[in-house]
Amino acid sequence: MVLSTGTNKIKTAVFISGKGSNLKSLIKFSKLQKSPISINLIITNNKLAKGLKYGVIFKIQKKIIQFINKDVAEKKILNELKKNKIELICLAGFMKIISKNFIKNFKGKILNIHPSLLPKYKGLNTHQRAIKNKDRYSGCTVHFVNSKLDSGKIILQKKVKILKKDTPGSLAKKILAQEHKLYPEAILKIFNP
Ligand code: GRF
Repeated sequence: MVLSTGTNKIKTAVFISGKGSNLKSLIKFSKLQKSPISINLIITNNKLAKGLKYGVIFKIQKKIIQFINKDVAEKKILNELKKNKIELICLAGFMKIISKNFIKNFKGKILNIHPSLLPKYKGLNTHQRAIKNKDRYSGCTVHFVNSKLDSGKIILQKKVKILKKDTPGSLAKKILAQEHKLYPEAILKIFNP
């Protein structure tokens, strides 16, 4: 495994609200020579987000920005992104909907990962909905972020079979394992087509 120093890579910020398992997989990917990105900043709206520990472990700068007022919060985030010369944003379990105005500042440069085969099941509780509808497959999607929730151009998807015995929890676990592979693959697809 060849490690690179991170210079000359696309400076990336990852936005999280919770566990940060996708953040961890993106950080590991970013350290490979083949990765076009480096992770330079972690942004969260949740000071209790477990994923913040990866900032400590991997010595990556992190910023906690509370969303009491969305306009103010987004201005603060934009300021941090500018200060750190961030060129790409990866949303990874970020539980706030970002505004049109924010997106305008980073047009075509915000990615998101979603735990369903979009356009099916935008929003929350995707696994419950897929099981309830007796779908045979679900999966995950990496897409560009536009002003409509979970609706931007799809970059890559991975299918996961739903078994009769699956619960929302077991399905979430299987899909999350695929998410960890899909996000890096989608980034490679965009930047090294
Ligand atoms: C993932 O399932 C992702 O698709 C969704 O939120 C979850 C985040 O998990 N948007 P983690 O914080 O990366 O572990």
